[in-house]
Amino acid sequence: MKPNTTNIRYYELTASEFDWKVSENKTVKAWGFNNSIPGPVINASKGETLVIKVKNNLTEPTVVHWHGIQLPSSMDGTDDAQMPIEPGEAFEYSFIVPDAGTFWYHSHQNETVQMERGIYGALIVEEKTDIIVDAERIFMIDDMKLTAGNEFKEGNVFQRWLERHDGREGNTLLVNGKENSVIEMHAGQTERWRFINSSSAKYFYLYLGERSFKIIATDGGLLERPREVTQVLLTPGERVDILVGPFAEGEKFSIESLPFNRMTSIKPKHAQYATVKVGTPKLSKAFIPENLRTIESLASQDARVSRKIKFSVGPSWKHGIDFLVNDHIHTDDNPVNIGELQVWEVANTSLMDHPFHLHGFFFQVIEENGNAPAYKAWKDTFNLKPKSKIKIAWMPDNRPGRWMYHCHILEHHEAGMMAHFEVVDPNKGEQLSGLHHHHHHKM
Ligand code: C2O
Ligand code: CU
Ligand code: CU
Repeated sequence: MKPNTTNIRYYELTASEFDWKVSENKTVKAWGFNNSIPGPVINASKGETLVIKVKNNLTEPTVVHWHGIQLPSSMDGTDDAQMPIEPGEAFEYSFIVPDAGTFWYHSHQNETVQMERGIYGALIVEEKTDIIVDAERIFMIDDMKLTAGNEFKEGNVFQRWLERHDGREGNTLLVNGKENSVIEMHAGQTERWRFINSSSAKYFYLYLGERSFKIIATDGGLLERPREVTQVLLTPGERVDILVGPFAEGEKFSIESLPFNRMTSIKPKHAQYATVKVGTPKLSKAFIPENLRTIESLASQDARVSRKIKFSVGPSWKHGIDFLVNDHIHTDDNPVNIGELQVWEVANTSLMDHPFHLHGFFFQVIEENGNAPAYKAWKDTFNLKPKSKIKIAWMPDNRPGRWMYHCHILEHHEAGMMAHFEVVDPNKGEQLSGLHHHHHHKM
């Protein structure tokens, strides 16, 4: 790819350990970028080049993945794509952001520890549209599991087994790194709220106490039309942009998560993340068009399946249970050819939910359990319900190299629910992208 030399934006991210105040009486030994959770918001306009220097001041290696950005494989920020950044070292990422939307960045090394401690941030790509809102806000949702002394601590053998099985859910609910925050907005205004679920395993089931809101975008940017709802599910890794308001002066409500049963041993609970207080009125300039954009269908519902993938759990001598893709842990899948439409049937044969995430490419869900979806959307993460099957379509464009897909419940990813594959140019021979590929590696 040739860089767009006219518009380059430079950022510097330094990963380190620091004291982070999640609320008045709670300070944790966090890990994060530039001494903050989340790290700085990275902003760009569609088509611009981002040059991001990542410095590692942690005591262990790290690597940064740009979740949802359709970038070259060498910039994807996984140990398939690069050597980890060792303590004291730095790596410069550089890529064009070809799509507008709500994206995020996070550690892709020892994720269950590094992401839990705060190594993540938002990456927002803007484009000119007809949508006019009165304000925009970002909400990064997370939960930390802390001891009574506000420490991150590994549990005993049984607790660790359960975490591996269920995914880790925490007791400290965070919005942009803070517990119980209060959001103040003006009455009479329409705002765009961008939600990113950066939790390890928590399914965030957004609810604003019966107030309806409009979904205008998902992982891969705008929908065709706003969709009015009162709740929306966000699995780990997923994003949604909603329009809220106008509200009346004096209104007060919570940003909540409805109970969602993802079929683990964790009891689904109603949870409160933050409080919204509506103040004095202000004139609105908001304008929301009926049609946001057109999404061309990649394939029809009956398109021929080119590959079948299975997410399952199975017995393991070592762990009691393993998290598998095509019956293997940390497996390899066949290469795909550039320019050849992919229609994948992804089945979840287990009895619990798994958020399926594909690196580097957006897909369209064209069928779920025999039904066409209710609307078109570009996705990079999609929830696989227990005992269910989806069909997705995606197009490998000219970005050869190593990629992966995995469950975005971090503990499942670590336990093996992932596969590597390569995008290849069918007109060239063998073209493994530089790095030696190690099999059963740690993330
Ligand atoms: Cu957001 Cu491989 O992950
Ligand atoms: Cu990703
Ligand atoms: Cu999973």
